[in-house]
Formats: sequence, structure tokens, C-alpha cells
Amino acid sequence: MRKEREALPLESILMTDRLKEMKLYKGNIIYTQEPKHFEIIENGYIGVEDGKVTGVYEVLPECLCGAEIIDWGNKLLIPAMNDVHVHAPQYRNLGIAMDLELLPWLDNYTFPEEVKYADVSYAKRMYSRFVRDLWRNGTMRAAAFATVHKESTRVLMELFRKAGMGAYVGKVDMNRNCPDSLCESAADAVRDNEELIMEYGGRDTLVKPIITPRFIPSCTPDMLSACGKLAQQYGLPVQSHLSENLNEIAWVRELEPESKNYGDAYNRYGLFGQTPTIMAHCIWTEGEELELMRKNGVMVAHCPTSNMNLSSGMAPIRTFMDAGLRIGLGSDISGGHDLSIFKVMVYAVEVSKMHYQRNKQTSFLSLSEAFWLATKSGGSFFGKVGSFEEGYDFDALVIDDHELNYDHYSLQHRLERFIYLGDDRQIERRYCRGIEIEEPEIAES
Ligand code: GUN
Ligand code: FE
Repeated sequence: MRKEREALPLESILMTDRLKEMKLYKGNIIYTQEPKHFEIIENGYIGVEDGKVTGVYEVLPECLCGAEIIDWGNKLLIPAMNDVHVHAPQYRNLGIAMDLELLPWLDNYTFPEEVKYADVSYAKRMYSRFVRDLWRNGTMRAAAFATVHKESTRVLMELFRKAGMGAYVGKVDMNRNCPDSLCESAADAVRDNEELIMEYGGRDTLVKPIITPRFIPSCTPDMLSACGKLAQQYGLPVQSHLSENLNEIAWVRELEPESKNYGDAYNRYGLFGQTPTIMAHCIWTEGEELELMRKNGVMVAHCPTSNMNLSSGMAPIRTFMDAGLRIGLGSDISGGHDLSIFKVMVYAVEVSKMHYQRNKQTSFLSLSEAFWLATKSGGSFFGKVGSFEEGYDFDALVIDDHELNYDHYSLQHRLERFIYLGDDRQIERRYCRGIEIEEPEIAES
């Protein structure tokens, strides 16, 4: 009895301390827990402690009344965007060079640009713009390809770290079918990767390395097995490209005649879900390849803008969703021309509508499904990211859409209009893991 009575004041002291640490973000909250519909809480509260969501409340519970409230008034509060496939060194090529398909596009436009990243000062200038513009567009987590160059890859990792944004950054590994200056031996690739892993391989950091063999045509078998070994030895994730273009697939069949399909080729080298894996595109994935992806939990990076610009095809996203594949959205700069994952959502819906008509599918993507892909589904690659459910990292955007909201639109329609019509001008604040992220500086030289 006595003990219990004594415990009460202590408990309330601890509670008051906890409330000091807790923040409550108030606004019109919209997010997805599952693909089919939006969760919408008008004038609700999100509790955040230690960078993580503690709960979403329609009415503030009495026990939280002492916590600091940050009131965003009539604005929208939504999860930040996750880009699961983007090439940072292709940023200068944004919006140009759309007249070729994948393989000649790589040779004529992409590799010549990536060669320039041997120069660290060029990397600083371009990468700082890239990171600043991801920030502008509300993307707080990215799975990014750098180039083969270790030093400029480090520059990119430092820029993300300084910004406070989350990223998996891959030093690209490649040793065939490319300019000599982008080729690196498997032994050198292992040494360079290990150096970055020692520096950035820490557990809870926001910026981490990811093993990045470019794609099968760029990597000899010894490079691919070196990559697989690195991933397994250091428990690191993997990212690459899969079944994007029909000429590419035919080439892989020649290069890897023993493999049952393109995905199986990665699988044989331990690069297909043995550790968490993202495969970009998967436009032509079906049958055994699809089944292997599902079984191994490999995430599809769906990049509809790139798939259209490079005339690669239309990924059957409805089929992938129905099959239970993991999927996220990628801008795939500079195959893709728009860094905004909001715009990628719109294209994902539009492409799925084209695909639906062409292939007599049962349905096309809804906007809530596209939003879920960009937030909770893609975010799952980075941890508990992309939702406002309890325990998730508080990665959020405050959207001031008053210019688009000049009549009595519902909250869902306000979000839809922002996704379709809005841009970075409406993104007022950005949070990553509970910290407000300020505009990153760009380097002029
Ligand atoms: N396949 C191999 N490299 C690339 C690249 O840089 N972009 C795209 N879209 N596909 C690739
Ligand atoms: Fe790509």
C-alpha cells in the first residue's frame, strides 16, 4: 500500500520529464497504413518523441496536455517522400538526351557524364545541387547510385550527412562494356567499398553504404561474386537494375547462358534478396523471375518517368501488387526527368491506366496506392519509415496549399490537387527522423 502511494509522485515526475521531450504536431494529417485508402485526421495531433511517432490523436489525450504543441493550423501534414532509385551523377543531364533507348543512351550520354566524377570539385558542385533539390522536393530518403569513383561517392555521402537526410549511397561497381575510366577491377572495387563501409557502416546512422553492381552487362562474373560476398560479409543491402529493356535482356541471356532468367543471374551471385535488395524497373519481369523476387522479398523500384523517356515499356504494377511484391517509387534521374516523387506518383497512376487498357487488366492504380508506394511501401527499405503509425520515424512534410485550395475542397481533394498540381513552393517544412531539415547549401565551385 505504502509503496504504491510513494510510486505515484515519482511516476508523475517521470511523466512530466517525458512530456518535456515530447512534441505534438497539429494539423490536417493524411497518410496511408494500407494501399486502399488514406487515413485522414482533420485538426489532429502527432506525438513525436526521440524522432519517432508515439501516436496520432483526433483529440488530445489528457495525459499529454503538458507537451509542446507545434500548430500548423489548416496546413496538411503528410509523410515525406522516399526515392528508391536515383542516379545522383546524372543530375546535369536532367531533361535532356531523351532520343535514344537504354543501351545507346548509356554509351552516348550517361557514361560520358559519369566520367566527370573523377574530379571531386565537379562532384561537389553537382552533388550539392542534387541533394538540395531532393530536399526541395520533399524527399527525405533516397537509395542513390553514385559513380565508380570512391572520393566523389564520399562527397555525396557527406552532403547527405550534413543535410540530415537519410540515404543509401552506392559506389557503382562496373568493369566491362563501358569507357576505360569507369572500369575498375573487382579487387579495387572491394578495397574501395570496404573503405566506405568502415567509414559509414555504423548501425543507426541515416547515411549508409549499399552494394551497387550497375547491371549484369557492366559486371564480369568475378565482379558480381565479389559484390555478393561484400553484401553478405558486411550485411549490406544491394541495388541494381533488372529487366528494363528488351535488348538488355537479350544481351544478359548471352552473357549468362547458365541462368534461367536475368533475376536468377543475380541470385546465383548472392545479389537477389540474400540481403535487402532493390531492383530497378522490372518492366519485363514475369513467371519464374517474378516468383523468385516474391520469394526473396526483392523490392521493385518502379520508375515510370524513366520507362517512358527511354521507351523501355510499361511495368505491370497492378500484377506486381496483386502478387505481393515489395514496391517503391524511383525518379531514376536522368532516365526520369522529374525529381519530385509526387510527380512520379502521377505518372505511376497514368502508366498503370495505359497498361490496364492495353493488357485488359482488372484495375489500375489508385492515388492512395501510389501514395502508399511512395511512402510506407518504399519507406520500408529504410526502416520504419513512411507512415505515422506508432514507432515510425517522424519523416514529414508540412504542405501549405492555400493557393490551390481556393474553394471548399475536402482534405483528400486538397492532397490530390497538391500531388497533381503542386510543387516545392507548397512544401513549407521538412522533417527527417524528428529533426527539421533546413535547406542544404550548394557549392559554387
Ligand atoms: N541500367 C544500367 N545503368 C543504368 C542507368 O544509369 N539508368 C537506367 N535507367 N538503367 C540503367
Ligand atoms: Fe537506373
